[in-house]
Amino acid sequence: MTGPISRRQAIGLGLLGVGSLGLGIAGVTSAGFRSGVSATNVPGGAAAASWAEPAVLASSDGVLTCELAVAERPVDVGGGSARMLTYNGTVPGPTLHLRPGDTLRVRLVNGLETPTNLHTHGLVVSADGNGDNPFVSIGPGESFDYEISLPDDHPHGVFWYHPHLHGFVADQVFGGLYGAIVVDEEDWSEGAPRVVVVSDVTLSRGAVAAVSDAERRQGRVGEMVITNGLASPPLPVPPGLTGRLLLVNACTSRYLDLGGLAMTVRGLDSGAFVPPRVVDRLVLAPGSRADVLLEGPAHPTPLVARAYERGGVGMGMMGAVAQESDATILTLVPDAAIAPSAVVPPQRPPHDLRDAGIDRARTLTFTMSMGGGMRFLIDGVAFDPGRVDHTVDVGSVEEWTLVNVTMMDHPFHLHTWPMQLVDGEGVDTRDVVDVPAGESVTVRIAFDRFPGRTVYHCHVLDHEDLGMMGVVQSR
Ligand code: C2O
Ligand code: CU
Ligand code: CU
Repeated sequence: MTGPISRRQAIGLGLLGVGSLGLGIAGVTSAGFRSGVSATNVPGGAAAASWAEPAVLASSDGVLTCELAVAERPVDVGGGSARMLTYNGTVPGPTLHLRPGDTLRVRLVNGLETPTNLHTHGLVVSADGNGDNPFVSIGPGESFDYEISLPDDHPHGVFWYHPHLHGFVADQVFGGLYGAIVVDEEDWSEGAPRVVVVSDVTLSRGAVAAVSDAERRQGRVGEMVITNGLASPPLPVPPGLTGRLLLVNACTSRYLDLGGLAMTVRGLDSGAFVPPRVVDRLVLAPGSRADVLLEGPAHPTPLVARAYERGGVGMGMMGAVAQESDATILTLVPDAAIAPSAVVPPQRPPHDLRDAGIDRARTLTFTMSMGGGMRFLIDGVAFDPGRVDHTVDVGSVEEWTLVNVTMMDHPFHLHTWPMQLVDGEGVDTRDVVDVPAGESVTVRIAFDRFPGRTVYHCHVLDHEDLGMMGVVQSR
């Protein structure tokens, strides 16, 4: 890459040294966003006293059989207590630790008053039948048995699960329904990576706050950023030694613009970087994940998410939406008694599609339209589960150009098949690709397996619920 790096490229790469970016990352000021001076997550609250992670459910002998009970429960969150939506009573839900080739059998028990379902975001698995099927609807009081089979060549990495029933997704994820999935060959008895699930929420009178239509159009942000359910927790790392973080951006709409210290990024989503990339800024769009190494500092050092400018619905349309401000994700604290993370070499990246023959090219255009309220569309239409928008051939490689003609950023997510950035540095494979306002991004996709029907959508989950989703059928 030569010449000045544009904002689009910076975001498309997802990571970049602060020094090479034209705008100061702490000084984002336009369109009603502000950059807070201090980075307190809880209005008037205090940082958590100690680190905690969700319970781990690990497979053995190639199978993980578990139940995920979905229910509203009181939980300790961000230093207080509130009723939230939970998997097995906790926010986040348990971490599922799997290996390539495993079968995940989950009984989802819906204890909510609304329908729900389960999606395993980023897993390279079939969307058919009782697999990772976003068209399943599980009514209140009902349960459903999922069986999700990971192929033997499933990429290593950090993934996540969350509900995916159109119209309910943003409320249910904002309410607390998310958990991490890690796929690797590692034994976590010692030096396990730290699972870091970041989300945001607004609480009101001991429950999750309702949001306005204006907030839905903008994509709601929570007042409070929580890491494994905690406000700014301390993460002990031995000074001078390595801590490995598996970061999940489980926020409904918030981009995490991470900085404040040097990070070695081993991979994003299911894509590994060989060699890893050293950066001091890392932008994770909603739904994205990162595998990151950090050096244990000599003094407490915060990992900060800066307020991020992602545009708005347009002049005069902002309404009363929550202001985004800086937040401390966690604070690295030196602790010589802690074992450093075991660091296995990153997995070799999958095949490089930059040299592949392209069987078909398509363009997908993101628009917003007025009329009967603001609508969020792809190719001029809102989501219809009964319509197939694109039919692809199993075995083909396609090039998709994602065109965003709106005034806000839309992080594009495709289920089942990873996308490779065409102008990425090296092999850069993602399942969430940010498409900034007024820009376009080109990706290549190998539809190498899994006949069936699934979806692609904006991962600002309010936009997905408002219609910015389409159906792809492979055959
Ligand atoms: Cu994270 Cu279609 O989802
Ligand atoms: Cu997904
Ligand atoms: Cu969007």
